[in-house]
Amino acid sequence: QAASIPADRVPDMEKRKLMNLLLLGALSLPTAGMLVPYGAFLAPPGGGGGGGGTIAKDALGNDIIAEEWLKTHGPGDRTLSQGLKGDPTYLVVENDKTLAPYGINAVCTHLGCVVPFNTAEKKFICPCHGSQYNNQGRVVRGPAPLSLALAHADIDEGKVLFVPWTETDFRTGEAPWWS
Ligand code: FES
Repeated sequence: QAASIPADRVPDMEKRKLMNLLLLGALSLPTAGMLVPYGAFLAPPGGGGGGGGTIAKDALGNDIIAEEWLKTHGPGDRTLSQGLKGDPTYLVVENDKTLAPYGINAVCTHLGCVVPFNTAEKKFICPCHGSQYNNQGRVVRGPAPLSLALAHADIDEGKVLFVPWTETDFRTGEAPWWS
């Protein structure tokens, strides 16, 4: 099994991200007030975790089963999955071989490149303008102004479920800029 998504998948994810942005742009042209009920309507049913959750998908688009994932992803691993709104989101394997309760959104807070994880340096390093984030996605070097966004990574009936992170960012002690 491949340990990570091949590099040629990343442009696909970027394309998807762009599509999402275009779609979002189209949706926000009408009155912004319409977005709230619309969002609630689009949320998948029975997600648990207070609504708005989405099952993480692997590079092939299959639901991610936590137990299976941990068989092929060892301690310290950060591998991309498809997260909330289709955003490329890293699943994090802790050193004790458990799945971290958070996923890290891979979209650079500078200008939106997908940021790869550098295993040797144990950092996320953006190829576009060199921003760096520590292994939890906290920004440690600009030009990126903010840390990478978080999502809760829960386990629901064995599958990884991303749920929007609206609480304090545990890395900075600040309110989440993304919610
Ligand atoms: Fe990542 Fe500019 S987009 S550093």
